[in-house]
Amino acid sequence: MNLLIIGSGAREHAFAWKIFNSKQNVNIFITNSTPGTINIAKSISLDINNFSEIKRSIIINNIETVLVGPEIPLINGISDFIKNDKEIFHVNVIGPSKHGAKLEGSKEFAKLFMTRNNIPTANYKSFNKSSIDDAILFLKNNTPPYVLKADGPAAGKGVIIVDNVNDAIINLKEMLIDSKFGSSSNKVVIEEFLTGIEMSCFVLFDGTNYKILPYAKDYKRIGEGDKGLNTGGMGSVSPVSFLDINLKGKIEKQIVIPTINGLIKEKIDYVGFIFIGLINVDGFPKVIEYNVRMGDPETQVVLPRIENDFMEILNACCSQSLDQIDLQFKSEYYTNVVVASGGYPEKYDKGFEISGLENVKDSIIFHAGTALIDNKIVTNGGRVLSIVSSDNDMNK
Ligand code: AMP
Ligand code: GLY
Repeated sequence: MNLLIIGSGAREHAFAWKIFNSKQNVNIFITNSTPGTINIAKSISLDINNFSEIKRSIIINNIETVLVGPEIPLINGISDFIKNDKEIFHVNVIGPSKHGAKLEGSKEFAKLFMTRNNIPTANYKSFNKSSIDDAILFLKNNTPPYVLKADGPAAGKGVIIVDNVNDAIINLKEMLIDSKFGSSSNKVVIEEFLTGIEMSCFVLFDGTNYKILPYAKDYKRIGEGDKGLNTGGMGSVSPVSFLDINLKGKIEKQIVIPTINGLIKEKIDYVGFIFIGLINVDGFPKVIEYNVRMGDPETQVVLPRIENDFMEILNACCSQSLDQIDLQFKSEYYTNVVVASGGYPEKYDKGFEISGLENVKDSIIFHAGTALIDNKIVTNGGRVLSIVSSDNDMNK
């Protein structure tokens, strides 16, 4: 079987690694490979947001299944594009329809979905340019901290949390009037600030059945001790030590099942991963956000913990038979430490040689911002490598 992975970060390397370790005979193709995947997957150079290029590669390489890593192609409708094309409609896509991807593509859509389906989340109100005076009044009548969210995708930067009402109003105006995030901030969701510890829940949904994958927690701040600027994610752990059976039960009953039932009831075409960002508010789990894909850097610790043959899981997802899969997880603790370029998440340089990777024996290395130049592996991005290690004892 020929399978195409769309995306070229450490998350997609982890997918390729897990599929490469399947007993099934799979030819893996990946877009714009890094040096990390060149030996396990065939690289296809293409613009992942150019759907005709993707179609051409699907036809040329006889691709039967497409696994979509990042959100933007999903939000732009790659799944519908493939399903509606008379030459490639038979190709399986692991990733939701454009309608389903609105759960990540529009904060307001996600909020309305949660409200309709009684899913616990922060109270909110949404505003646009014409209701800016109401938005300002709403901020003035509320207490800090103020949480402002651009409705549309903003590369992880669309959430602004400030303590001071004047700063909140300045940010609101920048978003609604000055289009700080382009059309993504034509609408702004202002929501209640929730206090608690965050974690990530990953669900695989075949349109009828779902499976909860190992829980994980990511760490987004650049500095030691969870301090400093926010990043795309500097590390992750799985399992999550504070997540007990009681809390997991609440998450499944109050959040996962209503989400799945909502998707079915509202006839939202959805086959793929659902990543639910959660916050535990004094024992009450609430949804911070939905993503319609796996998390990065969480995938790098979630996939190694899955005991099952990963292709069996993906095939079951494509044939609506996930209920036949008995998922088993390793109990070991996995951690992922992201190695980033100096200066990231602000300005950084590229092109520095990386040496010594061949000496790493006890950890798995997933590549993100790397390139092969003159037979040397060099840095080529902000987040460069994910180093994944495991042990039975979390304190070691
Ligand atoms: P999001 O892009 O929605 O995941 O938001 C980015 C980060 O902002 C989250 O990971 C949280 O740390 C924080 N955040 C978002 N919404 C809230 C909220 N209502 N209360 C507290 N923190 C929040
Ligand atoms: N780990 C957060 C994300 O993938 O969006």
